[in-house]
Amino acid sequence: MSIADGAATTFYDQVGGHETFQRLVDAFYREVAQDPVLKPMYPEEDLGPAAERLRMFLEQYWGGPTTYGERRGHPRLRMRHIPFHVDPDARDRWLRCMRIAVDEAQLAPIHEATLWDYLERAAHAMVNTFEPSGVGPDAGGRPTL
Ligand code: HEM
Repeated sequence: MSIADGAATTFYDQVGGHETFQRLVDAFYREVAQDPVLKPMYPEEDLGPAAERLRMFLEQYWGGPTTYGERRGHPRLRMRHIPFHVDPDARDRWLRCMRIAVDEAQLAPIHEATLWDYLERAAHAMVNTFEPSGVGPDAGGRPTL
């Protein structure tokens, strides 16, 4: 893909392709690993497979390889997040980790704004509870309030 291709390239290509998305999710999960609310939400101790799923999803969303769809099917992201307690606190923590990762990626301002706008809207759409943690259907069998 040459520069001369200009507007015909995808956002995925414009920001640097696979390498850029790899760096983005690596930085993001490095932050998640240190977050006391987010880290315990991940079913697997090793965040590597989760990082790979997020990377494949983002690459596909922005016009890159469609590996995510081939391996995981339709994203149905809201549905896939239902088992997790995504309240506004979790959303803000997720966005804080992602903000650090996006800053480190050092994208051109127009790309950064486009990516961030999407991530913010997606994160707000992913919120599935306003109950405090431990209350509600995911209370692990304990009586709910
Ligand atoms: C708002 C806060 C969010 C929290 C707390 C959260 C948390 C989680 C957790 C715990 C998982 C399971 C880990 C795994 O096995 O993959 C997951 C999966 C995933 N999340 Fe999120 N997430 C959030 C927002 C988002 C957003 C905004 C996106 C997309 C832009 C996203 C994309 C994904 C993808 C692609 C998967 C893997 C789905 C699959 O199984 O194929 N998440 N998330």
